Amino acid sequence: MNKDKTETKDRAINISIKAKPSSQESSKNAESSNGNNVAVNIRNVMFYYGDNLALKGIDMAIARHKATALIGPSGCGKSTLLRCINRMNDLVDGCRMEGAIEIEGRNINDPNWAVNELRKTIGMVFQKSNPFPKSIWENVAYGPQIHGVKNKTELDNLVEEKLKDVALWDEVKDRLDSSALRLSGGQQQRLCIARALAVDPEVILMDEPCSALDPIATTRIEELVVSLKERYTILIVTHNMQQAARVADDTGFMLMGELIECGPTDYIFTNPSQKQTEDYITGKFG
Ligand SMILES: Nc1ncnc2c1ncn2[C@@H]1O[C@H](COP(=O)(O)OP(=O)(O)OP(=O)(O)O)[C@@H](O)[C@H]1O
Ligand SMILES: [Mg+2]
Repeated sequence: MNKDKTETKDRAINISIKAKPSSQESSKNAESSNGNNVAVNIRNVMFYYGDNLALKGIDMAIARHKATALIGPSGCGKSTLLRCINRMNDLVDGCRMEGAIEIEGRNINDPNWAVNELRKTIGMVFQKSNPFPKSIWENVAYGPQIHGVKNKTELDNLVEEKLKDVALWDEVKDRLDSSALRLSGGQQQRLCIARALAVDPEVILMDEPCSALDPIATTRIEELVVSLKERYTILIVTHNMQQAARVADDTGFMLMGELIECGPTDYIFTNPSQKQTEDYITGKFG
């Protein structure tokens, strides 16, 4: 079946639109569910690739120790926004960011905050799992080693703890020295999450982490997101509405470089305040 049609059909399942909320109920950012419990504060962020304005003034407050989903059609700027948060866009020639992003009150462009330290605070998991061509043990121990942990027992304990956190330990404990590239796609993705957790981040950014996985591997990652959000702040990009509904406390809908609205997930899927959100979640476009 045509992939777009399948996605559209999937999207429309179980999503019903109720009456419009009052203006007090609607909120363009996550304030309503956050209070002052904000881990990542995005303020009027504009982002340019050369002359192309890819983010048009994003304001978004991401709640601490919750999962926030970012949804929206292809090309609307979801990955760009994620890459702004951990300054990965710095690597793109001719790009420019305006506005401010604060992690726990600290500006990501603070000259006293080295980029490698910033990325210790903000882990990232990509669409396609990307383990290093090293052993399973080395993949998890890599970050802590870079940041100065040398003691082998300490590293062993850390590797075990993080592999347990991602429910991979039982599957790999007897082959920690074998290549990470021999793991299945779902196992590789869980390993990449363990690698991200190993440096003890505050925030984990996930860019469509399940899009290359089968339904069982997807379920395991989703369960992981739900368990990890007790200790980490998670921002997850997904094209799968059901996935957003299952894992995310808050959901933001982006369209053509703008954040159309963001709020509690139930609310966004059942009572969106904006017509564009309603059209998107009911499969009218995208
Ligand atoms: N490295 C780049 N150089 C120039 N333009 C870029 C670059 N990366 C992205 N863009 C442009 O920025 C816009 C936003 O792209 P982005 O990858 O953030 O979208 P997205 O919402 O993540 O889409 P998808 O759902 O397909 O992953 C698009 O118009 C895209 O063409
Ligand atoms: Mg993307």
